[in-house]
Amino acid sequence: MDKLRFAIVGCGSIGKRHIAVIDAEENAVVVAICDNDETRGQEQADLYHLPLYSDFQTMLNEVDADIISIATPHHLHAEMSVLANNAGFDVLVEKPMALSRVDCVRMNEAAEKAGKNLWVVKQNRHNVPVRLAKDAIDKGRLGKIFMIKCDILWNRYQGYYDDSPWRGNKELEGGALFTQASHFIDLLIWWCGDVVEALGHAETQNHNIETEDSGMSILKFSNGAIGSLVWTTCVYNKNYEGSITIVGERGTIKIGGKYLNKIEYWDVEGYPLPEGIEFTDKPNAYGKYQGTSSNHDKVIKAIVDRVKHGGTDTVDGFEGMRSVAAIEDIYASVRHD
Ligand SMILES: NC(=O)c1ccc[n+]([C@@H]2O[C@H](COP(=O)([O-])OP(=O)(O)OC[C@H]3O[C@@H](n4cnc5c(N)ncnc54)[C@H](O)[C@@H]3O)[C@@H](O)[C@H]2O)c1
Repeated sequence: MDKLRFAIVGCGSIGKRHIAVIDAEENAVVVAICDNDETRGQEQADLYHLPLYSDFQTMLNEVDADIISIATPHHLHAEMSVLANNAGFDVLVEKPMALSRVDCVRMNEAAEKAGKNLWVVKQNRHNVPVRLAKDAIDKGRLGKIFMIKCDILWNRYQGYYDDSPWRGNKELEGGALFTQASHFIDLLIWWCGDVVEALGHAETQNHNIETEDSGMSILKFSNGAIGSLVWTTCVYNKNYEGSITIVGERGTIKIGGKYLNKIEYWDVEGYPLPEGIEFTDKPNAYGKYQGTSSNHDKVIKAIVDRVKHGGTDTVDGFEGMRSVAAIEDIYASVRHD
């Protein structure tokens, strides 16, 4: 089987992970990388012996690739995705897909017009506990879902924001819902449907940044469930918890750990937790802080499977847009102190 050829833009925290997992995937290959920070790009180019571009458009003009993987800051996703699709490439874009519905629509239209794919990274959908819950919900084992409770109680130290030209910036990052919470919001929507009502409160409590670092929101989903979302990057010292509890008519499931990596509670009528499951999801480690699960390898495998065998385990731009829309609605409801 011919290897899928990826070119990656953005060689920062997660771009490095894209390069590493594609390099390790037997049916994929990295053919070029791009970063406008010469030091960052050169480090990866030297490590993997790759052609390096400092200008994205030049890479699009010259590279012989199938897929452009976009791992740049949020505010660049829309523009780069449209350019890449227009240039005849499939696109894999990091979360959040973009910072507004309008941009998501623009991206989806560009992909459709070009007849190319647009996929969004949602690697937490591959977490073992997340799959188990999805399976129970899809089989109707929980009955009606009454309530869903999501807590993201994490730590980001001030340097995480200070060392970055875009984190904590309203226009470039948009806020913690886009960066930290979007993974979780995607799962809530995957299980319970779109957010149809949102009421939120957010504040900047313990960082010197423009965006909020803490908030809570009451949500209503299209399947009728009500929900709460609590998010903060202010937890002392290190990440404490990333959890979702699902309260259904015939069962309760709590997925917890720090990164949705454990089943903490499972009581589902006539449907015990299967035995012998290995909970192997690991977090992405970035030195002084840790992100969500590191299942990017599974995202890449799903794309290979999609392209080569018509697999269906990828997340497209219409699906990616749903969490962006929910985040826009939550922020629109927020009185930001
Ligand atoms: N799926 C996940 O778990 C996950 C984890 C981390 C980050 N991300 C996402 O990945 C994106 C990048 O995050 P990060 O933490 O790696 O950021 P980062 O700041 O560490 O890296 C971004 C890189 O993009 C480069 N860049 C910026 N503008 C560019 C341009 N015009 N052309 C070429 N390169 C350019 C920067 O020089 C930098 O090396 C964000 O959207 C973030 O949400 C996703």
